[in-house]
Amino acid sequence: MQIAFLLNGQTIRLTLDDPHVTTLNWLRDNGHVGSKEGCAEGDCGACTAVMAEVVDGQIQLSPVNTCIQLISRLNGCALITVEGLSQDSIHPIQQAVVDEHGSQCGYCTPGVVMALYYGLNAQPPQNREQACDLLAGNLCRCTGYQGLLRVAMDLPKIARDRLEPLVEALAALHAPTPEEHPTTLNQALALRAQWPDAQVVAGNTDVGLWVTKRHQRFERVLMLHRIPELQQIHLDNGQLVIGAMVTYTQALATLTQHWPSVDRYLKRIGSVQVRSAGTLGGNLANGSPIGDMPPMLIALQAQIELQSVRGTRHLPLEQFFIQYGVQDLADDELLVRIHVPMESRSLAMAKLSKRADQDISAVSLGLSARVENGCLLDPVIAFGGMAGTPKRARHLEQALNNCPLDRVDWQVLAQDFEPLSDARASAEYRMRAAQGMVKRACQQLLGQPIEVLV
Ligand SMILES: Cc1cc2nc3c(=O)[nH]c(=O)nc-3n(C[C@H](O)[C@H](O)[C@H](O)COP(=O)(O)OP(=O)(O)OC[C@H]3O[C@@H](n4cnc5c(N)ncnc54)[C@H](O)[C@@H]3O)c2cc1C
Ligand code: FES
Ligand code: FES
Repeated sequence: MQIAFLLNGQTIRLTLDDPHVTTLNWLRDNGHVGSKEGCAEGDCGACTAVMAEVVDGQIQLSPVNTCIQLISRLNGCALITVEGLSQDSIHPIQQAVVDEHGSQCGYCTPGVVMALYYGLNAQPPQNREQACDLLAGNLCRCTGYQGLLRVAMDLPKIARDRLEPLVEALAALHAPTPEEHPTTLNQALALRAQWPDAQVVAGNTDVGLWVTKRHQRFERVLMLHRIPELQQIHLDNGQLVIGAMVTYTQALATLTQHWPSVDRYLKRIGSVQVRSAGTLGGNLANGSPIGDMPPMLIALQAQIELQSVRGTRHLPLEQFFIQYGVQDLADDELLVRIHVPMESRSLAMAKLSKRADQDISAVSLGLSARVENGCLLDPVIAFGGMAGTPKRARHLEQALNNCPLDRVDWQVLAQDFEPLSDARASAEYRMRAAQGMVKRACQQLLGQPIEVLV
């Protein structure tokens, strides 16, 4: 595979024999050792760099965990690493980190600086909460975060970098078009039929870990990131239609506009780095019982659209998950869109995990219903983490329907699920926590007071 990209303004052209090379490994093997490896699984942020692409004629920036992003993803893009910030003199962000005593051993510092660089040039934080969110994907074991948060909150005082010249530089790059990077859905479906064994790659935030942690190797990859048809969100006939390649970051504004409670829930997924790459389609297609999107989307009664060269199928999302590790997806099919009905249903979500940020759920919940006369009508309740697949709580739905909360028998949840014990939570804890979560979600929808233990 031939690729070309800009690294700190310099053109790099590569012929890749091995599709598994990660961006971080390539950088470090080629002398660009500013970016560090801490975890090699997207958790610590030490490897963070900033990717720039041209979208609708404008530069769009993403913070990237280079440890899990394949180097071939950079084809046609620009990558800015910490070396690119201090070519002539120290960057104002680096000076601010020095002034705030934000670095000791310095191992995390290149990644922290690059997350701050992304914040400065994409969306400077306006308050402490946004500053915390910007840095939630970057761990520092030495310094404590107060100094770094002060730098983040002072970003609006620093002049943004001039990135406009990148538009022309990227156009002049004339990046190749590898076969593995189709640019239309039809091309992708033809390749999927031709290479059913190829590993489909969306944002690579799951697949990347199979490469770095399980040392899994694929005959071929089929990368979907260059297909505009899969990156669109639009309203169609009373439905919100979300392309499978829409990232969490891209989906956030639209989903929050329709269901305000989504904002907090989505920001509990990964970090800015993970949410900039990870896609909604990837979160469904991976079939994880603890993925955070299925409970929310099942509660919203979403349907998914699957396509192959043979045709198109639609099915309710809940039917996609057959059993642990088995989804209703043929070898030649791709998940192409998610259709969410825009009925006037209220939505509540909850996520229980050991940390607020950067943690996978022990239990997650989506609940939607119509609210009338102090009761919930036709509730749809879906849980993650309570079974081998994301699953609805049909008995509890019946018990809750049109029933005042003080008369609901929450114990019926035990008829819906027999949860497992694992490292995240015991079966008993999951069951009790799930009952509490769903009760609070109901109180939230009904506008009743909720006790908050903070
Ligand atoms: C540090 C970190 C934190 C994370 N935190 C969370 C979290 O809080 N909550 C959570 O739910 N997840 C979390 N994840 C997991 C991951 O980010 C999500 O599951 C993400 O949505 C996966 O999407 P992706 O685009 O990266 O998928 P990929 O890794 O590219 O693909 C995942 C799987 O889906 C398949 N696939 C992808 N798109 C399609 C398609 N269109 N058609 C058919 N098959 C397809 C791929 O072949 C692969 O099997 C985290 C991951 C990391 C590394
Ligand atoms: S090395 Fe930890 S996120 Fe990349
Ligand atoms: S300064 Fe040592 S890990 Fe952050």
